[in-house]
Amino acid sequence: MKALILAGGAGSRLRPLTHTSAKQLVPVANKPILFYGLEAMADAGVVEVGIIVGDTRAEVMAAVGDGSTWGLRVTYIRQDEPLGLAHCVLIARDFLGDDDFVMYLGDNLLEAGLIEFVTAFEAERGRLEGAPAALILLRKVDDPRQFGVAELDAAGNITRLVEKPVDPPSDLALVGVYFFDVRVHDAVRAIAPSARGELEITDAIQWLIDQGQQVTARELHGWWIDTGKKDPLLEANRLLLERLVPRTEGTVDETSSVEGRVVIEPGASIVRSTVRGPAIIGAGTRVTDSFVGPFTAIGARCEITGSEVEHSVVLEGSRIVHAGRIVDSLLGREVEVVRTQGRRGATSLTLGDHSQVDLT
Ligand code: DAU
Repeated sequence: MKALILAGGAGSRLRPLTHTSAKQLVPVANKPILFYGLEAMADAGVVEVGIIVGDTRAEVMAAVGDGSTWGLRVTYIRQDEPLGLAHCVLIARDFLGDDDFVMYLGDNLLEAGLIEFVTAFEAERGRLEGAPAALILLRKVDDPRQFGVAELDAAGNITRLVEKPVDPPSDLALVGVYFFDVRVHDAVRAIAPSARGELEITDAIQWLIDQGQQVTARELHGWWIDTGKKDPLLEANRLLLERLVPRTEGTVDETSSVEGRVVIEPGASIVRSTVRGPAIIGAGTRVTDSFVGPFTAIGARCEITGSEVEHSVVLEGSRIVHAGRIVDSLLGREVEVVRTQGRRGATSLTLGDHSQVDLT
């Protein structure tokens, strides 16, 4: 089985954070979102991986390279415009050949690995007749209108799939991981662009169903996050920090305390401060006279001085100096939050790369 990972454009919800950076490379628990997907592929024994790249391709290619870090063989497939998820399959035809493949949206994070689903799909392929053309994963969500939504009959068979319905037929969202065989190529060629001008994979799967092909669904257990928004990103950070294996490779002075599930990367220093887990402090970061955590990821080469940072993600190279108490915040790269004087209180911010805020 091959894999097709989508790390192209579109999905602009993280734009305030990433500007022109690849949103799939935003770190969660100090690791780019996309890397979790690559790890899941490697764990499931998938080696041949095609990655769809758009206008942020240079950044994605620099981060992932040839994939050998994960034991993968990566082929990059260039998409000039984000014309839809089914368009990605269309342009990946040469790479995919006639092989089965798993398609993985690069901004999705799953608690569960993929082994169970790869095994299930491959096992069904072994059948002589009626092997499913596709396997989709479904998950109950609070607001299905933001997703593709499935309608099932009493026996659990899919009757209908709709993309971002105003009036959802169920609360079962399509997770951004799909398994296909060769028949999907006919489907992506047959469909027309949707109202938002994209070739929707949801419509391609509906086409397969309309042609009488078997499409099976499995419910996903464990958490699943489409990280394209601020709050889901903080939530993903929280969930992944809870999996950290504590270690201290930087320095902690005797007046500081490090409590609970905490990672302190090499070259980081904690001075007269408290770090309460789960939390991670990136390489070369200095935390002085501060309180960090819980549920906080501070990237590499940051400075946190005289401040409190709680339930937040701070990307590399940022400075938070006498900023009072920062909560539920997402700060991009090289951001400065500096208070020269003034009131203390809680602050909640979403800042893009290179932003500067002076809290006077
Ligand atoms: O996350 C699950 C949802 O993902 C499903 O429930 C929906 O049915 C499915 O359409 C998709 O919806 P989104 O609106 O969240 O997709 P988005 O536009 O955010 O794109 C998902 C990923 O694919 C993202 O990493 C960008 C990449 N992409 C997207 C498009 C449209 C590409 O590489 N090329 C594209 O043309």
